Amino acid sequence: MASVRDTADVDTTKPSQQPCSENPTRSKYTFDTEEIPRLSCKDPLAEKLMANERPVVLTDTNLVTSALHWTIPYLQENIGSCDFSVYSSTNNKFKYYDDKKIRSNKDFIPPTRRTEMKFPDFVNAVNAAAPGKDRLYLQQTLNDSVGQRIVFDFLNFNWNWINEQQRKYNWGPLTSNLLLVGMEGNITPAHYDEQQNYFAQIGGYKRCILFPPEQFECLYPYPVHHPHDRQSQVDFDNPDFEKFPKFRNVKAVSALLGPGDVLYIPMYWWHQIESVEGHGMTISVNFWYKGGATTKVEYPLKPQQKVAVMRNIEKMITEALNDHQEVAPFMQTMVLGRYLPTNPST
Ligand code: OGA
Ligand code: FE
Repeated sequence: MASVRDTADVDTTKPSQQPCSENPTRSKYTFDTEEIPRLSCKDPLAEKLMANERPVVLTDTNLVTSALHWTIPYLQENIGSCDFSVYSSTNNKFKYYDDKKIRSNKDFIPPTRRTEMKFPDFVNAVNAAAPGKDRLYLQQTLNDSVGQRIVFDFLNFNWNWINEQQRKYNWGPLTSNLLLVGMEGNITPAHYDEQQNYFAQIGGYKRCILFPPEQFECLYPYPVHHPHDRQSQVDFDNPDFEKFPKFRNVKAVSALLGPGDVLYIPMYWWHQIESVEGHGMTISVNFWYKGGATTKVEYPLKPQQKVAVMRNIEKMITEALNDHQEVAPFMQTMVLGRYLPTNPST
């Protein structure tokens, strides 16, 4: 921490100001938010932030310049006749859930529905959307079944730059590129991913709200066995402070991404991503990388390393007991009266 300059020191007006003026969303939530610095990828401070796994918006990577001409009609014309995963939601939230964890959680009702459809059908469904009707969010891993123009644009991403980053920060391999095409107003609620992410904005504007891994306690993720594993249980629009009192202590950093911007979302950083209203549909592509192998463990562990340890222990206990109901009482038996002084029998 001490080695990284405070974001307050950074002149966030350079190198570019954004044309998009949002509605005053800054006070939409109960927590304070600071802007993530917007920097040139050549700025030594940007490199320092990334080396220290801190978020930064890079304005001049040219990572997806070859795709900046993508529009909905262009995609409809050129993306081909393959199937795309499209989620529909009765409200504006698209909370992710793990299909594999549904079977052992019988009471779980998925908050969104996934369907496979052709791109033109997605566009028609979006055009038919109206207040009171379902919202849609296309989220599809890019593969080689897309049309040749899209393949061409993809091959012309700035792979030189991103490969160099991967090498510099010792990341593992690129695992996937997710294409996200969303209706304005769509929200991906707060969660963390177990991968490094360069998140590239192509069309429209997204407000990205991030929290560092050390705020784990304030964000109350679902249990690991739950289909909403890695997602926050807190409803940001209507936080239940009785249930989640430490949510009062969260402090966010946030960025408004426009076409060409690339946000580094460090592994284990919480993020909520909102498609800004009034600027049309949003198009984004992310670049997910496996984290680097830790060569030498240093103490004290970093907050994100502690999160990883907690996850592993929780997984181990869940597996050993083979019954989700037993996990909480088991962990209480471990700590209450031994590592914790009193039994909060409420
Ligand atoms: C991600 C992510 C959601 C969105 O790229 O990790 O959570 O709505 N994206 O863009
Ligand atoms: Fe994510």
